Amino acid sequence: MSKHLTKRERKEVKQRQKRNKTIMVMVGLAALILLVVAAALALSSTPSYAVDPTNPQSVALGKQVYDVQCASCHGANLEGQEGYGQPSEDGLLKAPPHDETGHTWHHNNAYLIESIKKGGARLPADVGVSAMPPYENILKPAEIGAVLSYIQSTWPEEIAAQQAMR
Ligand code: HEC
Repeated sequence: MSKHLTKRERKEVKQRQKRNKTIMVMVGLAALILLVVAAALALSSTPSYAVDPTNPQSVALGKQVYDVQCASCHGANLEGQEGYGQPSEDGLLKAPPHDETGHTWHHNNAYLIESIKKGGARLPADVGVSAMPPYENILKPAEIGAVLSYIQSTWPEEIAAQQAMR
């Protein structure tokens, strides 16, 4: 069609091309905005298990959660189940202390969070039977992080420092 176009038709073709270009840029921009919004949403819905024993709010929330959910087995003062370390009469594993005499501080936070989420069901059969409930549908991620903030806030500095390196 190019040869027989009048001056006016050529102008119209140019205008159309320009319009198409503008539309493409706008579609591109809209796609970019959607992408940014989707990324922001994805980030904001990522559960946060933040553990911070230096944060008083997190420690206070964690103590509340601990007293209600954990103290009955792990002890009101993190001292572990009565008779921990002695053979059990009912065949169940006893709840270990969470203070510095236990082995909680031998594990990194990822392991501890996973243990709380899954409870005793995570253990292979040959390790033994643990009645610890899975907390992933009982506690919010922030509460699971907070209970560890509380536990860790009670540890002597040296123990806390060693655990932080795991
Ligand atoms: C019904 C008793 C019971 C309750 C309630 C309970 N636990 Fe436990 N927990 C256990 C027993 C038994 C073990 C040892 C076997 C195992 O690892 O499951 C254990 C193990 C753990 C461990 C792994 C420690 C390690 O060194 O491997 C963590 C962490 C833990 N519990 C945290 C918690 C927290 C936090 C709560 C409360 C939100 C809680 N538990 C509630 C019985 C309980």
